[in-house]
Amino acid sequence: MNRRQLIKQATGVALSLNWNPLKARAVKVISKTIPGTSETLPVIGLGTNRYSIGDAEHQACLKQALRTFHEHGGTLIDTAPIYRSSETILGQLIKTLGIRDQLFVATKSDRAADDSGPERLANSFTQLQTEQLDLVQSHNLRGVDTMLPVLREQQIAGRIRYVGITTSRGNQFTEFLDVMNKYPLDFIQVNYSLVDREAAERILPLAVDKGIAVLANLPLGRGALFKKVGDRPLPDWAIEFDCTSWAQFFLKYVISHPAVNCAIPGMTQSRHVVDNLGAALGRLPDAAERRRQEQYLDGL
Ligand SMILES: NC(=O)c1ccc[n+]([C@@H]2O[C@H](COP(=O)([O-])OP(=O)(O)OC[C@H]3O[C@@H](n4cnc5c(N)ncnc54)[C@H](OP(=O)(O)O)[C@@H]3O)[C@@H](O)[C@H]2O)c1
Repeated sequence: MNRRQLIKQATGVALSLNWNPLKARAVKVISKTIPGTSETLPVIGLGTNRYSIGDAEHQACLKQALRTFHEHGGTLIDTAPIYRSSETILGQLIKTLGIRDQLFVATKSDRAADDSGPERLANSFTQLQTEQLDLVQSHNLRGVDTMLPVLREQQIAGRIRYVGITTSRGNQFTEFLDVMNKYPLDFIQVNYSLVDREAAERILPLAVDKGIAVLANLPLGRGALFKKVGDRPLPDWAIEFDCTSWAQFFLKYVISHPAVNCAIPGMTQSRHVVDNLGAALGRLPDAAERRRQEQYLDGL
């Protein structure tokens, strides 16, 4: 069975489970099509590596951030078993908000199949309180050779819709490229931002060639971009592609790369969610404007 047939079958099972990934939403955000399918994803997703159990105030803050994300048209949520209690918290919040059928839930696999990989995968379904995961990614290629076949089996069984791999480090790019060449993949996730552009040279061209969807992690450089611009005002020309904040300036750069389907900034604050989803509105920078953004940042 080829990749396209697998996706079709997995999606068919999804529909039979009454899951509708394309449910109409009131908010019109920019979306891109997952290669090889007719399914679209909004260009801003939610990174949740800081979604951990805390006091009541913290829980309320995370719930509001997730609710706001959903209300502003976001669908893709990226989590992982090693993000402490992120999967557990998300499972609870998604159930409380009653929004599972409108989300695209991505998590990760981080052990080999002959270690605890299968058990940890089963636990992800339990913690996220879902019968089906939209995407499971081999986290930093840990156990990739033995777990990708397991993930494919689960895809054929309809429990996983898409399969992928992640990295967030340039020193893993050579190995990452080898895996991209060795296995059929639906998604990759890679570090890419205005301060970290190596993926555009080394990884993204192969993703385009192979028709693999791309999630961009660390799109704000773990906050480094805000430090770099400091308290400078936005350049006047940023309004030409509808930026009203630095976060939108940084995120529009990432999502305007033709290979990138979705950037996944970490957001625990509702006000950051509103700001960042604003990057999925209006116009995206063209090639000349992207170059101007690079030159501006490099000149600081
Ligand atoms: N190897 C891997 O697979 C891998 C590795 C790293 C990360 N990831 C994924 O990528 C996601 C993003 O990574 P990250 O969160 O470390 O880095 P990031 O997205 O580059 O930066 C997140 C930081 O920026 C802040 N922020 C977000 N929006 C803002 C805004 N509009 N204005 C000001 N500050 C803003 C966040 O604050 P608040 O939290 O306070 O809102 C947080 O401190 C992770 O959550 C995870 O899902 C994957």
